Amino acid sequence: MSQSLVTMSYIVATILFIFSLSGLSNQETARRGNYYGMLGMAIAIIATALSASVTSYAILIVALLIGGAIGARAALKVEMTQMPELVAIMHSLVGMAAVLVGYANFMDSSLSLSGVEKNIHEIEIYIGILIGAVTFSGSVIAFGKLSERISGKPLLLPGRHWFNLCLLIAAVVLGWVFLQQTENGGGLSPLLLMTVIALLFGIHMVMAIGGADMPVVVSMLNSYSGWAAAATGFMLSNDLLIVTGALVGSSGAILSYIMCRAMNRNFISVIAGGFGTGSGGEAAVIEGEVTPINAEETAQLLLAAKNIVIIPGYGMAVAQAQHTVNEITKLLRDKGKKVGFGIHPVAGRMPGHMNVLLAEAKVPYDIVYEMDEINEDWAHVDVSIVIGANDIVNPSALDDPNSPIAGMPVLECWKGETTIVLKRSMASGYAGVGNPLFVLENTRMLFGDANATMQAVLKALKG
Ligand code: TAP
Repeated sequence: MSQSLVTMSYIVATILFIFSLSGLSNQETARRGNYYGMLGMAIAIIATALSASVTSYAILIVALLIGGAIGARAALKVEMTQMPELVAIMHSLVGMAAVLVGYANFMDSSLSLSGVEKNIHEIEIYIGILIGAVTFSGSVIAFGKLSERISGKPLLLPGRHWFNLCLLIAAVVLGWVFLQQTENGGGLSPLLLMTVIALLFGIHMVMAIGGADMPVVVSMLNSYSGWAAAATGFMLSNDLLIVTGALVGSSGAILSYIMCRAMNRNFISVIAGGFGTGSGGEAAVIEGEVTPINAEETAQLLLAAKNIVIIPGYGMAVAQAQHTVNEITKLLRDKGKKVGFGIHPVAGRMPGHMNVLLAEAKVPYDIVYEMDEINEDWAHVDVSIVIGANDIVNPSALDDPNSPIAGMPVLECWKGETTIVLKRSMASGYAGVGNPLFVLENTRMLFGDANATMQAVLKALKG
């Protein structure tokens, strides 16, 4: 393929990626956005495969087959609840690729650059490996935390901020040493040392995140993976990779900022670590009796209500209750009830998790509201149903300064007339904190798997 045709294809792919991002920003156009992205990626892969930069088709085809088979298997096998872990491990692969490409470039003796060009190329290699290594180790730890292989509790080393600062200074100094040594054909030792430091920083940064702050870290690693890809693009002189990486990097950064604002967190404090740890005191112990309720009583409360709000959380994803929830919603709306869904920005385990589940079950978009819209209206709500949610409806976020989730805005369902909470036990949620909502006077607990209990409620409503 001629170079100009490759460049044309890259421009088309870039435009498709921009369309894809814009489509993904809205539920109604998200499907189309995905198709644009898939088409753009197919064009990018074909154009790169047919470009002059490919010297061995045998290696390319074997790599494509292995990568494609692993990707297809992972996509077919993954459960909706494991999606965030999959995304985290995919980010780690981008980071690893940046590190490997960096070392391959460093050892490539066929390049004969000199002067400023040589220096710029070496800086690209150094920064590419640095970002790649942080992304790699941080994403592996995020994978461990999201899949509960590693405890969600924050690791708080004494003097952790000084530790981070020392690592940063060491990385900068080693960069200078690296540039000096490459003048004489060396530079491998500072590069290796910096890689170890970057890996340590990635591990420490994510290990220090606790409570409910993982969402910010996940979107931040998403952003890092974009910058790692852009750095790889610079090293390989591939324009498409630079542009795509920058798109992912900047959209991830914007998402992290939005998440921080939604959770009332300071971005720098979250990445410096140690957030989600409260103010240092003991969180209040939850005392009191819960009031259980059964499916028939729940159905009666719903039939007597005029205004109903449903709050879905991670447990709805685990129970795959969204289809039953949709049937109940249809039935209640047919009976003239006003039904709305309240979506917390970090409900579930990935951004937009609940919206995806509700869209899959074909819940109409116009009755799905954001937290702020719902929080203005609790005085008019007769019944709210909390389906497998916990941290996002925890009142202690607002009134217990020692709580690990202190300061995070929540859906204030207790301000409505009656709240029904569906869960299997009194266990805590992701942040590991007790929830005083469960023992409030106007709260009823409907224990059991959310799909089974919702089915029983549906049966009772029909009966
Ligand atoms: P959680 O606070 O994790 O609570 C989920 C609840 O669902 C649990 O208390 C659990 O109680 C219940 N549950 C689990 N399986 C169930 C089933 N089959 N049937 C009924 N209930 C079930 O979830 P949330 O309220 O959605 O809050 C999300 C949390 O995850 C936040 O802390 C957030 O920061 C964190 N997080 C979010 C993200 C993103 S981006 N959304 C990413 C990482 C972490 P039982 O065990 O008693 O049933």
